Amino acid sequence: MTETATTVRKPILYSGIQPSGNITLGNYIGAIRNFTLLEKDYDCLFAIVDLHALTVRQDPAALRRNTAELTALYIASGLDPVKNIVYCQSHVPQHAELTWILSCFTYMGELNRMTQYKEKSAQHTDNINAGLFTYPVLMAADILLYQTNVVPVGGDQKQHLEITRDIAQRFNGVYGNVFVVPEAYIPKETARIMSLSDPTRKMSKSDPEDSLISLLDDAAAVRRKIRRAVTDSEAEILFDPEKKPGVSNLLSICAAMTGTTPETVTASFQGMGYGELKEATAEAVIAGITPIQERYKELVSDKTYISGILKSNAERARALAQRTLGKAQKKLGLYQI
Ligand code: TYM
Repeated sequence: MTETATTVRKPILYSGIQPSGNITLGNYIGAIRNFTLLEKDYDCLFAIVDLHALTVRQDPAALRRNTAELTALYIASGLDPVKNIVYCQSHVPQHAELTWILSCFTYMGELNRMTQYKEKSAQHTDNINAGLFTYPVLMAADILLYQTNVVPVGGDQKQHLEITRDIAQRFNGVYGNVFVVPEAYIPKETARIMSLSDPTRKMSKSDPEDSLISLLDDAAAVRRKIRRAVTDSEAEILFDPEKKPGVSNLLSICAAMTGTTPETVTASFQGMGYGELKEATAEAVIAGITPIQERYKELVSDKTYISGILKSNAERARALAQRTLGKAQKKLGLYQI
């Protein structure tokens, strides 16, 4: 991300994942895979958003381990941590500082409308904390600190991107062009990978083991889980997410893992049964995740390497973040010393 007189700066891409447990095939297809496809055209930052993970109670040792594992997984998936900035959110204090400022430009009514807040507060009735409510403001700070142009995420984050844009526009409307107003990148085909046991709900890290595929599952587990995936009582392979959510989910997974479309996969399975579709989907997933796992195993055991990457990238991120934070503080009239 260094700028010289001869290099033309690329647009900026930013995304993040919470280190809150199993990284799922949903995270991979909805997010990580797109990062690897877009990486070469952008200057990228990929964050391990550990502060966001605190909105749900975390075991400290598990959080530390998950942070190192997600770092290794980003790199194992093909993201170059020297060319890009792969870093941990809590290592850059500017995120928390800008969050406070932006929260003064965010309305309670806007946050109240967030479906993720409504869902999570229904799931965790014993811990409806203020962080869960202001989660989107921290996410807006993440994105806006780096003058981000594009944010690749799954469909569940669309509303958070919209509020980020609204906050940026509101701030810029008063103080001039402090923030770039980012665009979401949410391809329709990969926006929502569904749970294998209940294909009307999205696949989620916190779901029971059999309803999700972890990026670290071995081949036998992938085959077993996909074989047991809920479909329907018909026998026709059709892509219709409303009427046939289970079969359509398998078609989406198979298409994403083979770099094609659900329609193409559907056409290639005409006259065949669900068993064959499941088998092909499992093999496509295994072929996609096995090389990642091999590289991951080498990386994750090298604690010095992982810490070194996080340390040097935190420094790079801090320098960029401070530029934007300083500009916002100055515009607001916070006394400069
Ligand atoms: P997280 O960790 O919940 O999800 C990480 C990414 O995975 C996508 N995703 C899915 N995509 C398709 N199908 C699914 N079943 C599925 N499940 C998850 C999510 O949409 C997300 O892209 N709030 C973010 C983390 C974040 C962030 C940011 C993202 C914090 N700050 C700034 C972008 C920019 C989240 O949902 O994390």
